[in-house]
Amino acid sequence: MSERCSRIAGFYRLSVADRRRVVAEFARVGGVELELEALAAPIEESLLDAFVENVIGGFTLPFGVAANFLIDGREMLVPMVVEESSVVAAASNMARLVRATGGFCTEVIEDTMIGQVQLHSVPDIDEAVQAVRDATPELISTSNDPDSTLVKIGGGCVGVELRTFPASETDGDGDVLVVHFLVDCRDAMGANIVNTICEKQAPRLEELTGGVVGLRILSNLADRRRVRATCRVRAKELAFDGRTGEDVIDGIVAAGRFATYDPYRAATHNKGIMNGVDSVVLATGNDWRAMEAGAHAYAARDGRYRSLSRWSKDPDSGDLLGSVELPVQVGIVGGVTKLHPVARFSIGLLDVQHASDLGRVLAAVGLAQNLGALRALSTEGINRGHLRLHRRNLEMASHQP
Ligand code: MEV
Repeated sequence: MSERCSRIAGFYRLSVADRRRVVAEFARVGGVELELEALAAPIEESLLDAFVENVIGGFTLPFGVAANFLIDGREMLVPMVVEESSVVAAASNMARLVRATGGFCTEVIEDTMIGQVQLHSVPDIDEAVQAVRDATPELISTSNDPDSTLVKIGGGCVGVELRTFPASETDGDGDVLVVHFLVDCRDAMGANIVNTICEKQAPRLEELTGGVVGLRILSNLADRRRVRATCRVRAKELAFDGRTGEDVIDGIVAAGRFATYDPYRAATHNKGIMNGVDSVVLATGNDWRAMEAGAHAYAARDGRYRSLSRWSKDPDSGDLLGSVELPVQVGIVGGVTKLHPVARFSIGLLDVQHASDLGRVLAAVGLAQNLGALRALSTEGINRGHLRLHRRNLEMASHQP
């Protein structure tokens, strides 16, 4: 391999050992030496024991690599940890179709986590709001310790926002003021950073508002840390199962529409997106429950649960256009991402420099996964492909030494 290229024809036909060699070579061409041993060796018990309580062992899941990804012009092999067959294959196949038009484009829309301090039984909500507004510069500056690493690298609290709930809505909590701290966590997921700021500011907020401090914790509805991914697929790439590409596009657009008006369909549709997202979140040692909570809460942001993606037909070219927007709460520094050897391996393979770059990958993979599911569902149905792959995987496993 002289130039880094993630389009690796027949990657799935290789043995596990050969796939590892190809992946290591791909990374090496990009200047990254991967520790392949991380994949082969069991994780040390002492490390597992340090992560959680009452450990008696570990649990291994398949670690696959999705090929063919081109994201913002970067060739990428994407690590995916998932137990469900056809997830990795679908992501790779759809990434191959999207490459033909230049790959996925992504955009970081906002990049701050939210921390909440709840103040209940506030005696005069208007006065409390005014007092916190007046104190905002002080609250921001006292949240940002100039000696902290976060502040030194340009992160920290960047804003304070307020939400109020009248006593009629709070079921006995009186008038409630919720103070949101918007925190640029740089390359950390940020839970500890945000929680520390909330806990630090709580007594001052009590003084300012006369209310009683309740909870002080980040919000997993991370709608101020969002990424959008878009893609375009030509009709000729989508011809499938005896159907023309134009027919397949119409089917995908109709399937996308179904998920915008029916929450029962939207939940399954979004689950398909999260098949891709969670696999990468897990591979990189991030908190997939946070990502799940954020994605589904965001999907219901206008009071009705809807699809996270949109599919349409370009009226000029007839191409299929897709986009997805989701809250991303992941990091590439700290915690499991650094301590777990397989998570380190994944981050090395992705060669991402910032947490937001990982967020871009998540959105692109989620969109690819959604495209794969809708293409199958609107044509042959999901079972045929599933069973085909399942049989192929069994056959390959029987040929392994
Ligand atoms: C299965 O894990 C995911 C799908 O149900 C997603 C979808 O229906 O869009 C196939």
